[in-house]
Formats: sequence, C-alpha cells, structure tokens
Amino acid sequence: MRTTTHSTKDLDAAPPAQRGRPVHRPPTGEDPSLRAAYRLCRRITRVHDPGIYALIQLMPTVLRPPCWALWAAASVLDDLADQRDAQQAEREARVQAWTQALQCDLAAGTSTDPVRHALVNTALRWRLDLSSLQGAMTSTRDDVRGQHFADWAAWRAWCNGEIAPWVDQVQDLFERAGAPMTLRLERQQDYKRFIDGAQLTDILTDLSTDLAQGDLFLPQEALDAFPGAEDDLRQGSWSPATAALIRELTALARQWVTRPAMTTGMHPGAATVLNTAACLMRAQLDAVDAAGHALLKRTPRPSLAARTRILAPARIRSKLAWSLTPLTVPGPRPPTVTVSGPGPAAESTTLRPPPPHPDGARPPQIAADRMPAHVAIIMDGNGRWAEQRGLPRPEGHRAGTAAVHEMVYGALEIGLRHLTLYAFSTENWKRDTEEITTILEAIRRDLDEGPIRDLDVRQRWLGHPDKLPQELVQAFLREERRTRNRTGLTLTVCINYGGRDEITRTAAALAQAAQAGDIDPHLIGEDDFARHLPHPDMPDVDLLWRTGNEQRTSNFLPWHTTYAELYFVPHYWPDVDRRDLWQAITEYSRRQRRHGAVPRISP
Ligand code: FPP
Repeated sequence: MRTTTHSTKDLDAAPPAQRGRPVHRPPTGEDPSLRAAYRLCRRITRVHDPGIYALIQLMPTVLRPPCWALWAAASVLDDLADQRDAQQAEREARVQAWTQALQCDLAAGTSTDPVRHALVNTALRWRLDLSSLQGAMTSTRDDVRGQHFADWAAWRAWCNGEIAPWVDQVQDLFERAGAPMTLRLERQQDYKRFIDGAQLTDILTDLSTDLAQGDLFLPQEALDAFPGAEDDLRQGSWSPATAALIRELTALARQWVTRPAMTTGMHPGAATVLNTAACLMRAQLDAVDAAGHALLKRTPRPSLAARTRILAPARIRSKLAWSLTPLTVPGPRPPTVTVSGPGPAAESTTLRPPPPHPDGARPPQIAADRMPAHVAIIMDGNGRWAEQRGLPRPEGHRAGTAAVHEMVYGALEIGLRHLTLYAFSTENWKRDTEEITTILEAIRRDLDEGPIRDLDVRQRWLGHPDKLPQELVQAFLREERRTRNRTGLTLTVCINYGGRDEITRTAAALAQAAQAGDIDPHLIGEDDFARHLPHPDMPDVDLLWRTGNEQRTSNFLPWHTTYAELYFVPHYWPDVDRRDLWQAITEYSRRQRRHGAVPRISP
C-alpha cells in the first residue's frame, strides 16, 4: 500500500500524542506494553498520514485503536519496502520477514515488536481474520521491484489487491462493533471506484518522492495519451505534456472519489467518515493542481484552513451520530493457537479436509484435460421430494441443504475449481412466503454456522440484493471477504439470480462505461462484455447439471453456458450425494466437445 508521506523511522523521538489534551486510552487493561504499543501505532498513523489520522478520529473511540494498529502495520511495511539505504533484495527480504513474523506472533497471541503486538491484540480482541491481508502484503513486497501497468485494468487490479484487504478489515471492525458500514451491493462498483480514486490521489500526491526513487505508478495507457509526458516526468521536467497529463489525472481522480450515492442507506457516522474522506481527497487534488511545477519537487498539501473547513463540521456530525449508536466492545480473548496462512489467530481458520463419504466412496481418477473447470447445478426437485414423503415443501429445502454440503465435499475431493449453484431465482419470488423464508433462512444459517465455513472454499454470491433480507446480504459479503484468499474451490451461490437480469445489468454497466469515456462504444467486444459481468473471473460453464427430471436451463447463466454440456437426471435434489457429482463429471469426461469445429478423426 502506498502511503509514504513521512517515514516511521523517527517516531520514537516524536512527542507523546496530544500532550496536555485528554487522550483516549485503548481498552488494553493494565498491560503497559500494550498501551505503549497502541500509542506508538497512533503516533505512526498521525505522522505518516495526517489525513487518515483525522478520518480515524471521526470514528467511534473504541474503533480508533484497532484502526491505528492496522494503519501503522501498513505504514511500517510500506517503509520497509521503501528504505533506500538497502538494496532491492534486502528490502524485499525485510517485508517478507515482517510478514512471517506476524504469522508467528498471531499463533503465539503476542509479539515483541510493538506494532505487531497491537495488531495481534486487535485481531484477537475483534476476531479479525488477518489472513486476507496476505495478498496485500505480498503486493507491497512486489512494489519494491517497481510496477508496470499496461492499462487501467491492470492498474485497478493492483490497486484493488493493495488497498481493499485493509479497508475490508475496517469494515469488519465496524460490523463487530455493531455498526455495520452497510455498503449496498449495487454500490460495490462505486466503492471500487472510490478506492481507485483514493489510490490515484495518493500517487499524484507522492509523485516527487516516487520519481526520486525511479518509480511511476501510473498505467502506460494514461501516459501514452500525452506523448512526451513520461520522459519529461522521469527527467523532472514540467512541460505542457506533463501539465496536461496531471490535469487529466486529477480530474479523473476527482470524478472517482465523488460517489454521493455510495453512502446511501449507511449509518450516518460511517457515511460521515466516507464523505469526509472524499472531501479531503478533493482538497488534496486541488493542492496537486495548484502546485504546478513544484509537484515534481515536493509533496503538496491542502492548507490548514481548507482542512479545518472540512473537518470541523465532520467532527460535530460524527460525534452526534456515534453518540446515538450503542456499540459492542468485545472483551479480551485468549489466543487461539491455530495457524494456516498468515494470521488467522482470531477466527479459527485452520482449513479442514472434507469429511469422508459414509460408505468410504472415493472420487474417480479423471485425466486433467478431461476434467471440467466449472460445473453449474440447477438443484431441482426439493418440493416433490418432500411431497412424496408427505412432508411440507420447506422440508425438501432443508434436506436439499445437506445435498449442497455433499456436493462441496465431492467437488473438493475430485479437485473441481468452480461450482455454481442455482439456489433462488428471480422467478422464485412467486412462491409462498413461508417457502421463500425457509430457503433464504437455510442459506443464511449455513453461512453463519454451516460445515462449509472451514473448508478450503472461496464463497461468493451472484444475484441482485433487491428484496433480499439485509442479514443475508451482509452474511454473504462477510463470507466473501473472509474466504477471498482461499484457493481450493470457488463456490458461487446464485440467489435472486436471473440470467436476463444479469445480461441487462451488464449492458447497462457497459453503457455507463461508454458514457464516462472509459470505453469506445464502437469497439465493444465480447471480452469487454465479460469484464463487466458481476464476476468477470468466472469461467464458462463446462457442465450444466439439472436434477429433478426436467430438461430446461431456466434463465440460468445464459452467458456462461453457451457451450456447456448438458446433463439431466431424474433424481430429486435431496436424494443426490457426492457420488452423483462424480458420475456427472465422469459422463462429461467422455463427451466430445467441439465448440463449433469439425471433429478430429483419429488415424
Ligand atoms: C428447486 O426445487 C429448489 C429451490 C428453488 C431451492 C434450492 C435451495 C436449496 C437446496 C438450499 C440451498 C442451500 C445452500 C446452503 C446454498 P423445487 O422447490 O422447485 O422443487 P419442485 O420442482 O419439486 O417443486
């Protein structure tokens, strides 16, 4: 994460925090070393990035110490990556060593390093799963070698990988405190743009420091639009081309951080933090614009008056908003000695293997080039299964949940990469309210306490949040964040999903991108469409399997299934188990797929 504004090196010499003023004490009991650790984190945050420090001060007092700990950790890593007194390999090794030490400290539940001590305590107390920070820490290490981005898409991927995991931790903190920073799902795009805008603002602010180190964290696509600008920048020369480039980039960043709809429906305290962040970034961008040629020599800062105009009313608003919200403060927790990956001490995230099949059945051996990458299932027949047994229909859905677990176990055992399940369609709202409630409740309960939680499964959701219970949406967003770095199986559960709805929304997203000038409408191709789908990384479906003796695709994944092999079986969904999945995959492995080509005839 690029946050280098001031080095953390001289912090021990810095004056104690806010001398003479009342200082909020972190809830660390009587442990003086922990109190000192949090104090240091606070100081690092304030010196390293005063803007972030001011934003944290707008949060409820109980959330400030964990935020200082997180921010200080990111800053320390950033500094380790930037220390110019060391060679590149040495700096990489330092970042790596710090990251590994954190892993050990999390397992031990304490640390001799003050910043890690505070971070470990934060993770334990607030039950944060820090393993999702691993990717961001690796990215910081890789920044040491410099970065090159061909286009904005590559730049965004880097930006998302560096910043989003840290912001996710803050979101988790708000949720644990009982004030979820509810980001409505339809605003996720806005949120991503906001993060891009924050990163671009940071890069423009730190241009002089980065250039002095030979770094330029801008995409080639943007630089090439202003011929000569890159050379001029690298030579420290302020030319008409560099001035035009910077003007263009500040305008872009301003547009990205200005997302008024993003905070719609959010808690007013959380909304104040985000809206103030946007105002501070715009003030920062004004300072970049005003700096002119000085931008290549020093770091521009908005004036104290400009900052005060933004922060003074925000302080009043946030204080009022938080005073009306009762928050939960977790008590101290003993360390959980479980580690797999860097730092899941808080939430026990030791990944378990799937439980064996009760009959000891094992998956068949399928040649790698015959294995489907993506199996999608229409889980049909729950209602008829229940009726056949004289049970109410909701019982069928409960039994169907057990079959879902079986499929996940079977997918992990056979080594499937992607499994997508059709759990609730946009058409299913036509059903009886009790039945709808049972299905959605079964899914939510499964997310909260089901047996898939500790398997090597990255869980995510596909569909639209409209009409869905907020607790279900929140549970999915939480599980997506918690499991985002798992690599075994990607399980996508489609809820309130409709294929035509997905295509319509994707077309709308493309139209917006064209309107914003991000894409030329005359050049839109299939790849562009695919990139605007809700999960652009979801591969085409190789095998579409439907149970329940029906032979239709029912508005399920129309974009992804155009060349899928279809497989229909008569059994009702609650009657299947992992052996049926293996049977479906075996059948698939025997099929000849041509994708419109002429079949090859063996000699
Ligand atoms: C179709 O059968 C099935 C559904 C509409 C619901 C499927 C949902 C589950 C199995 C729960 C999923 C749980 C998790 C954890 C993802 P139907 O009711 O249309 O059956 P019928 O055709 O016999 O009436």
